[in-house]
Amino acid sequence: MIQGILQDLINEILAGAVIAGGASLYEQFKLRLLRRATETPSRQLQELMAACAGVTSGQIQRMIAEAEHRNGRAFPTEDRQLLCELLRNLSHGAQLLSQSGRPTSVYLRSERLLELLLQDFQPVRRHGEPAGLGYTEWILDRFLGRGAFGEVWSAKRKGCDSWRCAFKFFTQPEAREWVQREQNNLMALKDALPSDHPNIVRLHDMSIEGQKYPFFQFEYAAAGSLEEWILEDPDQRTPLDRSKVIYEIVEGLAATHEKGIFHRDIKPANIVLSDDPEPITKLTDFGLAKTDLAAQVAGSSTETAGLLAGTRMYLPPESETLVTRVDPAKQDIFAVGVVWYQLCVERIEQPPYSFARRLAAHDVDSHTIDLITRCLAAPEERFENAMELREHLRDRVPEHWEVPDGMYDVQYLVREALAPADPV
Ligand SMILES: Nc1ncnc2c1ncn2[C@@H]1O[C@H](COP(=O)(O)OP(=O)(O)O)[C@@H](O)[C@H]1O
Ligand SMILES: [Mg+2]
Repeated sequence: MIQGILQDLINEILAGAVIAGGASLYEQFKLRLLRRATETPSRQLQELMAACAGVTSGQIQRMIAEAEHRNGRAFPTEDRQLLCELLRNLSHGAQLLSQSGRPTSVYLRSERLLELLLQDFQPVRRHGEPAGLGYTEWILDRFLGRGAFGEVWSAKRKGCDSWRCAFKFFTQPEAREWVQREQNNLMALKDALPSDHPNIVRLHDMSIEGQKYPFFQFEYAAAGSLEEWILEDPDQRTPLDRSKVIYEIVEGLAATHEKGIFHRDIKPANIVLSDDPEPITKLTDFGLAKTDLAAQVAGSSTETAGLLAGTRMYLPPESETLVTRVDPAKQDIFAVGVVWYQLCVERIEQPPYSFARRLAAHDVDSHTIDLITRCLAAPEERFENAMELREHLRDRVPEHWEVPDGMYDVQYLVREALAPADPV
């Protein structure tokens, strides 16, 4: 079991430790992990890193609960909270270190990566702190994720526990330029879509100047990221209607493409889900977006490959040749194809050459395979932009549809007539 090592560490800490406050828990965890790193043969070390990179918050909570059950004692609430945050940060850090998205690939080269990872694996912000200067009514509640330049937390509003927001803090000293960039993109998005779009995470507020850690305040998507959903154990997660998820991603993306805004970092970690009974899918993290209205008007929204941004696994092949100019709309479409593939096979992996066969083996219908193929195709055969892809999705007959109360299900009769042996 790939999470075995992490589970062992949690057990060790709970069984042997004199647990005394947050800092010591962090130190204990760090020391034990480092000891493992020096004692462990490199093959197992890779396993440890892969375990860290693929672990979801649900799995972390279950590992802690299992340790508590096995040891017949519980972590104090604060320590449990901190341990969750440490493990979550460790997981995000391990993902970041794995640039190609394959957790084991880079660790082959240097075992010191674990040490590097541990150097700053304690979140900078703490549970219970106010969000920032002048924002004392917002209290940090849960560490949601770590990115290249900062941390994302959910915060509760004082006196109103059910009201939560997501705060994206820029905690790294070298983040200034990125704050500016994301701020410009978010402002351009607000201008382009003044009435918020249901499939794009809503920006509530931002506070940059005078804050130790500048931040953006967003609507909170309580069901977490699509990456978490894909990595989570199938029997532990809420069921998702994949077609609906893709449709909503494309809807959100089409709204921005229509305005000449290109996301350029579409991937499951940048797609979040609401906790509605039927979760709503929302795009987030416009930090790398390109907001180039002029290019769209001229009909040639292109960019030189040298300036290309994005995450390797989701980048189209044309981005690898320096001479090709990459159309950012088609870059987004390619990334949607990769996400769609991953959603179907339920793995964070690069689509293999024979992806169509792999999809068919997962019982994906041929129409869907055709559409994914056109997302992943060479640029001249790929969908032009999200509007074109949306048109093709609209043509689809939904697999399941709900009959409003009091209406007679005529479609049921149609289904029965079409497939009398197997009316679903
Ligand atoms: N509004 C939100 N609601 C819930 N979770 C979020 C939200 N925004 C971000 N997250 C979580 O935090 C992670 C990092 O956020 P993101 O904006 O992508 O930061 P970065 O630019 O550092 O990648 C996401 O992968 C997601 O898991
Ligand atoms: Mg991100």
